[in-house]
Amino acid sequence: MTANGLEGVIAADTRLSDVDGERGRLILAGHDVEELARHAGFEGAAALFLDARAAELRAQLAAGRVAAADRLSRLGDALAAADAMDALRAAVAHLPGESTPAAIIGAVAVFAAAWWRRRAGQEPIAPDPARSHAADYLRMATGGEPDAARVAALDAYLVTVIDHGMNASTFTARVVASTGSDLVSAVVAAIGALKGPLHGGAPGPVLDMLEAVGVPDNAEAWLRRELDAGKRIMGMGHRIYRVRDPRAAVLEGAIQRLEVAGGSPRLALARAVERSAEKLLAERHPERPLKANVEFYTAVLLDAVGLDRALFTVTFAAARSAGWCAHVAEQRATGRLIRPASRYVGRLPG
Ligand code: COA
Repeated sequence: MTANGLEGVIAADTRLSDVDGERGRLILAGHDVEELARHAGFEGAAALFLDARAAELRAQLAAGRVAAADRLSRLGDALAAADAMDALRAAVAHLPGESTPAAIIGAVAVFAAAWWRRRAGQEPIAPDPARSHAADYLRMATGGEPDAARVAALDAYLVTVIDHGMNASTFTARVVASTGSDLVSAVVAAIGALKGPLHGGAPGPVLDMLEAVGVPDNAEAWLRRELDAGKRIMGMGHRIYRVRDPRAAVLEGAIQRLEVAGGSPRLALARAVERSAEKLLAERHPERPLKANVEFYTAVLLDAVGLDRALFTVTFAAARSAGWCAHVAEQRATGRLIRPASRYVGRLPG
């Protein structure tokens, strides 16, 4: 058998999350994703992952944001990169190796927002420790006073994507941690893994697709042309899920609530594109269900809360950094050096 991406290989025992791809169920720290996203808020969910009290973590995250803002002037050119994830990787690498999880998570939000401000030729906005993490991130990144509905939608997003089994970036973080290296090194490596378009890079292209489709009636013809040209439909398909990604439904619900509050004109279009894409992909791949994944509605939600598409993947990192830190702690507590084998298929000497 050829090595093919370690599908089905169990790389760790974890109490953090469980992905059931056949039934479409995601458990996050003992709770269904739907329940946690609806009720916990980012601090509440991150506290479950980091074994902390939510109120204390909220204060620690606020302190982390303030400390990261103090560091901005010492980052040199780290935030000058054209790509947000390149900038984030460089900026996080400036943190001391054994920074705490709250310091790192707080810094990811501050660095992401500061990168965007700098790109727009504006000064970074100082963090406000009195606010929730979601509210403060949105404020620092958009430069405006976010309304409660948008903060709630972003909070639901941050919780929904906080962790997801042994995904590529989490595995990367655990491999680095398993060598005894420091937390910041593990997070920097995870950021590198998340950057790839097959992992965290799809929501920007989903928005491009929705804009190109324009109106629901164009969806089917547009998608057919893309598929005929051999292209993939972004936001559709998943390595693990054989049903619709449960996170897509959670985010769709959060957008619906935002729409009721007057905030998202794109939902009807997104639903029409999803319906057509599902139908066309079923015709072409009857053997493999290809349904909406988390990135599909991520694009709609993050756009609706006012974040530019250039910030989508770093916003994913802002949430997932909590998952990475929790996995590093778990790896240190229970894991061994991760060191798989390879099969030699090269030439033999002589
Ligand atoms: N659009 C069109 N065809 C797709 C597709 C999509 N979004 N996703 C999978 N397929 C097709 C592949 O072309 C392949 O067909 P083939 O066997 O005729 O070549 C078949 O389905 C299996 O795809 P494969 O790449 O082996 O599946 P995977 O498990 O490795 O891939 C993804 C999973 C997510 C990488 C893949 O579905 C994809 O590229 N989706 C679009 C990008 C995306 O949304 N990424 C975010 C993931 S959360």
